Formats: sequence, structure tokens, C-alpha cells
Amino acid sequence: MRGLAGRRVIVTGGTSGIGEATSRRFLAEGASVVAFAVGEEEVTTASDRLPGLAGAIRLDQSDPSAVERAFEDADVLLGGLDVLVANAGISLRRPFLAITAEEWQRVVAVDLHGTFYCAQAAARRMMAAGSDGTPRGGVILMTASTNGLVGHPFYADYNAAKAGVIALARTMALELAPHVRVNAVCPGYVLTPMQQAEYTAEMLEATNRKIPLGRHATPDEIAALFAFLASDEGAYFTGAAIPIDAGETAGGLASRDWTVREG
Ligand SMILES: NC(=O)c1ccc[n+]([C@@H]2O[C@H](COP(=O)([O-])OP(=O)(O)OC[C@H]3O[C@@H](n4cnc5c(N)ncnc54)[C@H](O)[C@@H]3O)[C@@H](O)[C@H]2O)c1
Repeated sequence: MRGLAGRRVIVTGGTSGIGEATSRRFLAEGASVVAFAVGEEEVTTASDRLPGLAGAIRLDQSDPSAVERAFEDADVLLGGLDVLVANAGISLRRPFLAITAEEWQRVVAVDLHGTFYCAQAAARRMMAAGSDGTPRGGVILMTASTNGLVGHPFYADYNAAKAGVIALARTMALELAPHVRVNAVCPGYVLTPMQQAEYTAEMLEATNRKIPLGRHATPDEIAALFAFLASDEGAYFTGAAIPIDAGETAGGLASRDWTVREG
């Protein structure tokens, strides 16, 4: 549909939530997809839920040698790499004063360090010379968050890591142009199956009331942006941090009481 047929794609966190929707979308576009993830069950059941998946590889992306091994396995499965969606991440809800050193280190190790290891492994492959002597090229997309754009209480470690992901994407975009395009996608509230299970109906409604469009995103809506950015239709995007947030970060303090003013 978007000229992604035959593209060789790795999606990290590609067997759950936003990443699973992204793997499914790229498969529907005719791409070859390998998913990386840490959860045992999500990896072993991946091919049932994602028919046509070229492979699901289990790793902890905070370990640089595990990342290198996973990319070598993906080389065999895909025979090359055109697109990386570096999407895997974790978050913990903790008041700033209560965050332990271990919690801080774990969130930053997975969300920022792990994204760097994956992005560098992909970029080295994409910048390697092809048969004509020029870099093969490719597209690297990262899942940052609106938490990397503005402060959100109770997620200091996550916010700092996601802000780092945005700076990493921007820097890579400058260094790797014009061969590799690099962008950070910044979702607002996305209703993944896991989150849905954590919300009561009242909590969901209360959160929706704060969002200008009045609802969470579906994982498919984020996947659609990844497909667009990976395709030639997104060819003029690089170095961008793109909010996909229903207006969450469009306004300042005044925007918070818009529902009150409406009513
Ligand atoms: N759901 C939201 O509202 C939302 C909003 C903005 C950004 N995000 C970001 O989107 C991304 C996906 O989140 P999701 O909501 O789909 O969550 P999810 O929990 O459904 O998926 C997270 C994925 O990351 C993988 N992962 C976690 N730790 C890993 C590790 N150490 N090594 C390798 N893989 C690991 C998991 O195996 C899983 O596949 C994350 O980066 C998250 O921060 C989510």
C-alpha cells in the first residue's frame, strides 16, 4: 500500500501493545518483519498472533552483547535491514523522592541505553557500503513519548530517558543524513490491552476528559504513523520529534480547563 512490500524490518517490543500493532501493520504492507522482545510468553506465542512473522527473538536490550547477537540472528532471518522501529520500553509510576537508584538505572538502561544499542546496530548495517560503494541507507524510527517533551509527575526516570531518545534521534538524523532518516514518534495516551486491564471505567473516563480529543489512541493509530514515516511518502521527515497525542501537548496551563469552559 505504501511501497513497503519486501522491506526488511525489525520492531523492538514488536510482540506487545504498540509494537505488536506495528509488526502487524508492516506485515499487512508486505514487509518482512522480525520482532524483538523480553517477555517469554509474548515471544513464544508471537507467530500465532502475527502470521507471516519472519521471527521473534527474545533478549534484554539493556545488554549490549544480547542486542548484537539478536541483530546477527535477524541478519540471517531477513538477509538485510531497511527499517528499525526501536519501540521497546518500560515505565514505573513512582514519586520522584521515592525512586531508588536501581529503579532509575533500570528504566534508563532499557529505554535509553537499549534504544541506543539497537539504533547503533541498525545504523551500522544501513551505513555499510552496498554494491555501488555508497551506504545502503534505511529508516530508523523510535518510540519516544509526550513524556519526553513535557514534564509528567511520577515518571522522572522515564521522562528523562524519553527526552534522551528524542535527542538521540535528532543527533543521529544529522550524522546519518542523507542516507538514513531518523525520527522520534511521541505518543500521548495509548490504550494497549495491558493498560486497559489496569484502568477501571472511571479512571479511563477521568483520563479521557483531560485529552482534547477526548479519547486514548489505539495502537493501530501509532502503527500507521510508523508505516507512513518508514515509507517513501515520509521521505522529507528526518530529525523530527512528532507528537501523536490528540492535542495533549498543544497547550499550556489554560488548556487544562477547556472541558470546564466548554461545559
Ligand atoms: N502505552 C502508552 O500510552 C505509551 C505512550 C507513549 C509511549 N509509549 C511507549 O511505547 C512503547 C511500547 O509500549 P506499550 O505501551 O506498547 O507497552 P508494552 O508493555 O505492551 O510493550 C513493551 C514491549 O517492550 C518490550 N521490552 C520491555 N523491556 C524490554 C527489555 N529489557 N528488552 C527488550 N524488550 C523489552 C516488551 O517485551 C514488550 O514487547 C514503549 O517505549 C513505551 O514507553 C507508550
